[in-house]
Amino acid sequence: MPWRETTDPYRIWLSEIMLQQTQVRTVVPYYLRFIEAFPDLESLAEAPEDALMKQWEGLGYYSRARNLHKCAGIVVREHGGRFPSDAVRLETLPGIGKSTAGAIAAIAFGRDAAILDGNVKRVVARLGAIQGDGSRSGVKERMWELSRRIVMPGRGREIALAMMDLGALVCTPRRPDCPGCPLNGWCLALSGGAPESFPEKTPRRKRPHREAVAAVIQDGTGRFLVRKRPAGALLGGLWEFPGEFLDGDESQESALAKWGGKAGVTGLIPFERFATIRHGFTHFELRLHGWRCAVEGIVPEGAGNWVVREELSHHAFPRAHQILIEKIKEDRS
Ligand code: ADE
Repeated sequence: MPWRETTDPYRIWLSEIMLQQTQVRTVVPYYLRFIEAFPDLESLAEAPEDALMKQWEGLGYYSRARNLHKCAGIVVREHGGRFPSDAVRLETLPGIGKSTAGAIAAIAFGRDAAILDGNVKRVVARLGAIQGDGSRSGVKERMWELSRRIVMPGRGREIALAMMDLGALVCTPRRPDCPGCPLNGWCLALSGGAPESFPEKTPRRKRPHREAVAAVIQDGTGRFLVRKRPAGALLGGLWEFPGEFLDGDESQESALAKWGGKAGVTGLIPFERFATIRHGFTHFELRLHGWRCAVEGIVPEGAGNWVVREELSHHAFPRAHQILIEKIKEDRS
């Protein structure tokens, strides 16, 4: 893990944000490319948001990237370019929650700060045989309490890294290596005989299914119509082929016409559905249908930007739209 070779707060912050909900092996190449593109906080703060989104493309949870940019700006403008060194002040910055604040304070600044990411929740739930659903606030507070008690004064950095590694490598969700665990003499879940039964599973809600259409439109010179998603929205700041969600049992053609109406496009003719892509988001499952469309009328200025095929890759697209682009390229070859 390349971020283990530094205590530079910029790099620790970046790695901790990337590692939120994302596995180490996915993060490593993104982290290395990101550090090359933006070697320090100032270069990131000054970069156009599009350049940052392009580096983040494919990593998901794009609000992390937008908050990263905001946070860099705030630290440069309001903190003289230096991250605050304690968890309480770190937590006031965009994108930095309580556990990430603890991790940065501990790893970058050697503070005696506790952490409670997904892996550490599992470790402390087992150590203390803490019952109940860890997403409930009372249960979570008991986990925080135990995590704080584990921090040995003056050893915050080592403890934070050790707890993360213990969770990732030893105290694994299934078949934990209890004989190899340095805490096996203190673990209440182990002495109770069923360490795997902690933490209690959070009941998973079924995610609703949604369908959407995306219109792939080329002008007379072969350029594609793409638009940038608005900042506040899901996938905000990314580019996409324009389209709409389907309402109720609306047909795909009707949803395309609905987009055309809103965008002021006249004479929109969907002629081929060339792909259907599934993608899971936090709150819903998406099926995105890619449609090749002709326009026999007008595409007004505001409908989007015309981009040549070779330059599509200069823009950051969500995963499902990247797949549409690949399919378009396959079609030609
Ligand atoms: N997950 C969150 N932070 C991490 C870190 N610093 N090292 C490994 N995995 C992590």
